[in-house]
Amino acid sequence: MPSNSTKILLLITLVSGMLVSVSSNSWFGAWMGLEINLMSFIPLMSNVKNMYNTEASLKYFIVQVLASATLLFMVVMKTLTEDLFSFDSNLYTPMIICSPLLLKSGAAPLHWWFPGVMEGLSWENCALLMTVQKAAPLMLMSYLIEMNTFTLSIIVMSTVVGGIGGLNQTSMRKILTYSSINHTGWMLIALTTSETLWLTYFMIYSALALTVVSTIKLSGVSFINQTMMTNKGTTLMKLMMFTSLLSLGGLPPFLGFLPKWIVIQTMITNNMIPLATIVVVTSLITLYYYLKIAYSSFLILNTEPKWNMMYHKNSSTSNLSAVVLSSISLMGMLACTLITNIN
Ligand SMILES: *[C@@H]1O[C@H](CO)[C@@H](O)[C@H](O)[C@H]1NC(C)=O
Repeated sequence: MPSNSTKILLLITLVSGMLVSVSSNSWFGAWMGLEINLMSFIPLMSNVKNMYNTEASLKYFIVQVLASATLLFMVVMKTLTEDLFSFDSNLYTPMIICSPLLLKSGAAPLHWWFPGVMEGLSWENCALLMTVQKAAPLMLMSYLIEMNTFTLSIIVMSTVVGGIGGLNQTSMRKILTYSSINHTGWMLIALTTSETLWLTYFMIYSALALTVVSTIKLSGVSFINQTMMTNKGTTLMKLMMFTSLLSLGGLPPFLGFLPKWIVIQTMITNNMIPLATIVVVTSLITLYYYLKIAYSSFLILNTEPKWNMMYHKNSSTSNLSAVVLSSISLMGMLACTLITNIN
């Protein structure tokens, strides 16, 4: 929670913009909500003391405004043509209206702005960008989306870009960005079959992204070579960080496997076997690089400087929240299988 009152206000308007957009019953209202949401996120991002934040907020502003303007234009055009002409405009309108929303949520061919923006943000804003900012566009897409060649190619591109893009990255923010693009692809799969499925995926993904961000922020790591020798890291800290990363990557005993499992199951019952094969294979590639980070940091180069003793004493609320969140991500799936019967 920020201590600055302006930031608290902006956070409230950000969330209410999202809620306006999600609960509105007209496209104009949805657009308005998106705009309120954007206009509260921009000042949240910028920081006079940091040049990169300003650059990122400018990039984000330009891209999102392009998307909003296109959305508004398309919606107006849809309304006009459906009233004026009798020809069937229904064939392409879902795609046309989905495109700006895909740009807003950062799905694959329109993801180019995402890594650059994330690179210049603080961790809190990264978490916001990966979770809250995706909710409204995806929810709006759920009104239109159906499984066709367009959607299929978006999904495949998102998972492939998420898988390949993260391979050669050294920055934690970039890795999380590509993981977010990848999860957007999976959420689109969930969207085409049912809304509850998407909501489940989104909730669990948000919780995991929050876990990863809070543990990474706590250990002060921005690049993967810093994980080898973290100044503030105890072994527990490292363990939390990598179990939650692996959980985000969907490794079975962790909570992150649950949404993946449900989505794969749904794909198989809906006869989407080729798609299921492709996304599972790309998720294997990504698990490789998650494991690579964890493996080298745990086993190959584990040096701990003696002056670490100084830092071991910090036990703040952020420390506590990281512990709580990462234990949910560790044991969440076991708890789920105790409560419900997943077949
Ligand atoms: C993409 O999502 C799937 C399913 O949750 C996961 O298995 C895979 O590791 C993810 N890849 C990245 C880059 O996060």
